[in-house]
Amino acid sequence: MDTNKPPLVPPKMATGGITPGPPPGVAPLGMAAPSVNGPMLGPPGGGPMIMPGMEASGNETLPMFGQRIAQTINGGFLTLSIAAGHQTGLFTTLGRYEGVAKTSQEIATDAGLKERYVREWLGAMVTGNIVDQCQDGKFVLPPHRAAFLGENGFGTELLILASALPMQSQVFNKVMACFDKDGPNGVSYKHYTEFHHFMSLMSNVWWGRHLIASFVPSVPGLREQLEAGISVLDVGCGEGGASILLAEHFPNSKFVGIDLVEDPIKYANSALREKNLDNIRFEVMDAHDIPEAWDSSFQFVMASDSLHDMAHPVDVIKIIKRILTPEGKFSVLEVNAHSQISQNKMMPYASTFYTNSLFHCMTVSLHAEGGEGKGNMWGREDTETALKEGGLTLLSVHAPDGWFNVHYLCKK
Ligand SMILES: C[S@@+](CC[C@H](N)C(=O)[O-])C[C@H]1O[C@@H](n2cnc3c(N)ncnc32)[C@H](O)[C@@H]1O
Repeated sequence: MDTNKPPLVPPKMATGGITPGPPPGVAPLGMAAPSVNGPMLGPPGGGPMIMPGMEASGNETLPMFGQRIAQTINGGFLTLSIAAGHQTGLFTTLGRYEGVAKTSQEIATDAGLKERYVREWLGAMVTGNIVDQCQDGKFVLPPHRAAFLGENGFGTELLILASALPMQSQVFNKVMACFDKDGPNGVSYKHYTEFHHFMSLMSNVWWGRHLIASFVPSVPGLREQLEAGISVLDVGCGEGGASILLAEHFPNSKFVGIDLVEDPIKYANSALREKNLDNIRFEVMDAHDIPEAWDSSFQFVMASDSLHDMAHPVDVIKIIKRILTPEGKFSVLEVNAHSQISQNKMMPYASTFYTNSLFHCMTVSLHAEGGEGKGNMWGREDTETALKEGGLTLLSVHAPDGWFNVHYLCKK
């Protein structure tokens, strides 16, 4: 960037001195680990993380509230453009310039996109204080922002999360119809054409970093069992990223992934063919219909972000108890929240998750016959109750670093 021509909008943070590790002042998705006796929901490292809307309403005036709503709505639209920047690869393109300013035409050419669209997008980015515009009209993504938004940046999960906004808007009118007292109970998976791929992108970032390195070691004895050779079931596996990674690392073990929906299973099977793995298979199957022939045959079962989407989680837990071997373990991953709404006021991203639940999780569960619609914010207290009602013993509850989930480890 030409230092003689300062940006029209000065960057808010210093641009130099990028060091590895979580960027200062930016809270990643994860929250501090809850102890079994009392969870503490907050950013890693402690200290309150105040998101818009978390403030107490006591001293708030009407103009203050109006301003907050205006900022929130502006942020919502900016999020849509952030999702566009991620999907088009524009953040990656801008990041590659390493702080050198470019014209909208240069950026569009390098990204293989239309200049007019790129320029309008840059309008949202500059006024949203993400990209800076220099006095000569060129655009620059300062290096500290590129380290967050660029290729494999610190903000990868957040960029994927931003893409949930356009993805879930696909079903906006269908969900609106469900609010009506005479409207449908829920929305079918067939209307969520992008959901499974979105979810897989989101989960794979975390699985890629933590599945082998820290998740497997967090289950006592699991690594040794996987190395020796056991049978593992992934319930509600989606596109199967976690199971495929496990199958690659532990060739002596056998893996099965099941999912209610055909498309992610097709995707998972095509990924298998590419990798030439013969110790794993994927099947379209409703977890409520797992056959009795599978009883007592899995040493390890996992359900990552899937129990709450099911019509009857306790019924599924009872089935999982049945299919576990006598010493078998069941790992459940669910959003790190409380069951009482008021207790989630200080939880970062709580509004994001309630909204995701409204536009997907709760609503797909309610669509199933008699579906209970737990929603992804059913919370720790209700999840623990369900696991106990399903006849399982809870061994530990732990919030893995840098992720928004809690890991419930259970045995028969
Ligand atoms: C939020 S996604 C999680 C996917 C994957 N486990 C992950 O971590 O990325 C929940 C998954 O559960 C699946 N699912 C929902 N109800 C199910 C059921 N009754 N039986 C099997 N799978 C189900 C959905 O199709 C979806 O793929």
